[in-house]
Amino acid sequence: MIRVATVQYTPVHGCRQSNIEAISHLLEPVEADIVILPELCTSGYFFISREELAPLAEDIRGEACGMFSQMAVSKGAIIVAGMAEAAGGLFYNSVFVFRPDGSEPLVYRKSHLFYREWQVFERGDSGFPVIRDERLDVSVGIMLCYDWRFPEASRVLALEGADIIACPSNLVTDAWIKVMPARAIENKLYVAVANRAGRETRDGETLVFKGRSALYDPWGDPVAQAASEGDTVLISEIEPRLCRDKRFNDFNDIFADRRPDLYGSICRRR
Ligand code: ACM
Repeated sequence: MIRVATVQYTPVHGCRQSNIEAISHLLEPVEADIVILPELCTSGYFFISREELAPLAEDIRGEACGMFSQMAVSKGAIIVAGMAEAAGGLFYNSVFVFRPDGSEPLVYRKSHLFYREWQVFERGDSGFPVIRDERLDVSVGIMLCYDWRFPEASRVLALEGADIIACPSNLVTDAWIKVMPARAIENKLYVAVANRAGRETRDGETLVFKGRSALYDPWGDPVAQAASEGDTVLISEIEPRLCRDKRFNDFNDIFADRRPDLYGSICRRR
């Protein structure tokens, strides 16, 4: 069994330093093999210019990455954190994955930009990564919030062998509540949604974040679920081996039954 901490944390917009300290404090007592934090957890979400985002974006060799890296080593945990990334003069809405061996974090850059993210972030170019941990015998796939609307993202991760999809999020609609469990069922794997709560107002427009972070099992049932408000750490146990047999009755296997010979032309059609 592997212990997963799905963290619901609401950052204070623009207060990077105090968010880093608050996250560090929140995680101090947590004992888990995999820790998953929300999207943009050190900066807040709603940015309308690159100028205001710039001082809050993380460098892979910067302070926040250093803190999470050390924590991954001291806890012996994989830590998955959504953060704004500065790289080569550009900004990405990224997920950093810190590993217990202290190696350089792996970075996933959000593929599908949502709403005003288009105004400040570049579209990701990293593909959908799966992190294999031999010691724990688990494979962790990464996607980020709005990626949920594209079943291709979770399917690619599943085909690459993910047992659990870690999905840092800042969800502002309600549709995902119906669909995230479907991503778990259709791929027969765990899905952990680490969301935030609270609200942010910019330029007279308010975004309300929905909380309700959850870990869904391979049958789409919530193993743990947070309230719509407040910071919390959901601890769940997962059994990765359950995700490796894609049969769900004596005749059907969701991977073996696929018909990629029929999908190609549809996938290319706009
Ligand atoms: C989202 O992608 N933050 C909805």
